[in-house]
Amino acid sequence: MKKSMDSQPQEVRLGLVGLGTVGSGVFEILKNQAVSLEKKTGVRLILQKIAVRSVSKKRAVSVPKALLTTDAMSVALDPRVDILIELIGGIRPAKEIILKALSSGKHVVTANKALLAEAGEEIFTAADANNRKIGFEASVCGGIPIIKSLREGLVSNDISQFLGIVNGTCNYILTRMSQEGCDFKTALVEAQAKGYAEENPALDVDGVDSAHKLAVLARLAFRSAISFKKIYVEGIRGLRREDIGYAQELGYAIKLLAVGKKHPKGLELRVHPTLLPNGHPLAGVRGVYNAVFIHADQAGDQLFYGRGAGKKPTASAVMSDVLDIARRNVSGSQRAKAPRLNFDNKKVLGIEETISKYYLRFQVADKPGVLGMIAKTLGQNEISILSVNQKESHATKSVPVIILTYAAAEKNIRKALKVIDASRGVSEKTIMMRVES
Ligand code: NDP
Ligand code: HSE
Repeated sequence: MKKSMDSQPQEVRLGLVGLGTVGSGVFEILKNQAVSLEKKTGVRLILQKIAVRSVSKKRAVSVPKALLTTDAMSVALDPRVDILIELIGGIRPAKEIILKALSSGKHVVTANKALLAEAGEEIFTAADANNRKIGFEASVCGGIPIIKSLREGLVSNDISQFLGIVNGTCNYILTRMSQEGCDFKTALVEAQAKGYAEENPALDVDGVDSAHKLAVLARLAFRSAISFKKIYVEGIRGLRREDIGYAQELGYAIKLLAVGKKHPKGLELRVHPTLLPNGHPLAGVRGVYNAVFIHADQAGDQLFYGRGAGKKPTASAVMSDVLDIARRNVSGSQRAKAPRLNFDNKKVLGIEETISKYYLRFQVADKPGVLGMIAKTLGQNEISILSVNQKESHATKSVPVIILTYAAAEKNIRKALKVIDASRGVSEKTIMMRVES
């Protein structure tokens, strides 16, 4: 970075890798807010180079051709670049580009939660080894400053648990399905058109993107390296409209939740569709909005809320990291090294070791004895029933029976459902969802 003379702005040179939804938002901020950002921060940002897949592609933003290259690695190696902004996503070649940028003395800003969840320790170790900063505010919850809050605002807190709606695409789809009766496919296409979804939207709807973000959050909240593969993941692809309706009748909303809980024996980390009572702070989070509800021992309960995906909110988070890194260099202040080395390796508990309340929908023959058999089997497995609702059905031979349980061990629920689903009178695999309250 070019040294500033007194009252002269500090010049900081950027290399941008990726000019899609988020990259174009960053480009627009750099273009439209250069003067105001310089006034606010004393930093003059200069965009040196932009790497894309195709130089000839038509773009919503008008970019001087001379800025473009298809050689992303050359941006990582460019000696004029101070901060590399990686916005291509995925593991390869993003990982190599970031590692090369760090080893050639650049700071890095990324929105790549997949990479941080799956190879985070390698990336953070490389940043430490090269004494460079890595900013990743944009990797979780779009425009919400959740990373900074966990790292700085809540630093004196012990965080025992958090619940998050962390995928804008899924929350958009669930909102459209539950409030406007839209079907899953149409809602997904809309989310894609709005720039919310990943390049491969299966990552969104199958819960993997939420699990990536859960890994990033859990690492900071619980100060532990996280083994991503141990996170339990269910998405929303199999969610049926009738279950959304039954849950609504019972006073619940269904959300794709990322759950992080710290227990003496280890961490509970899971992503799955979850019933939340209507009064819960996360139940009313709609559309592309995300929210994270954190229980911290000193500050108490905290709710973070905002747009979780899309061009502008995510570009806002990227720019916050860019200016944070640039500004700290302006003042010459040395941030204390992040205490990552104090992180431990907490065990991630298996899903069968967890305890929840449950929503169970049985599809059963409307005959004497079937409901009794279900109640008996649940009882034999130490599962207490909170409520039972049987629906009338004129159209089919089977009827839905919806049971809400008190807190029960997941291993017992699975054992009971195995017996029940194999019984005469039960016509479909039972739908099981967890309930948070
Ligand atoms: P897009 O698919 O919209 O854009 C990807 C960009 O990367 C394109 O400009 C593409 O070039 C470029 N690119 C891909 N591969 C290469 C390569 N090998 N070399 C050079 N350029 C390449 O992605 P998004 O902007 O949506 O997402 C970017 C990152 O931000 C991802 O990690 C994503 O998970 C994350 N993110 C996205 C959010 C969102 O709301 N979209 C929100 C939060 C995080 P070309 O244009 O020529 O095809
Ligand atoms: N596909 C992601 C989402 C982008 O829908 O939340 C934001 O990380």
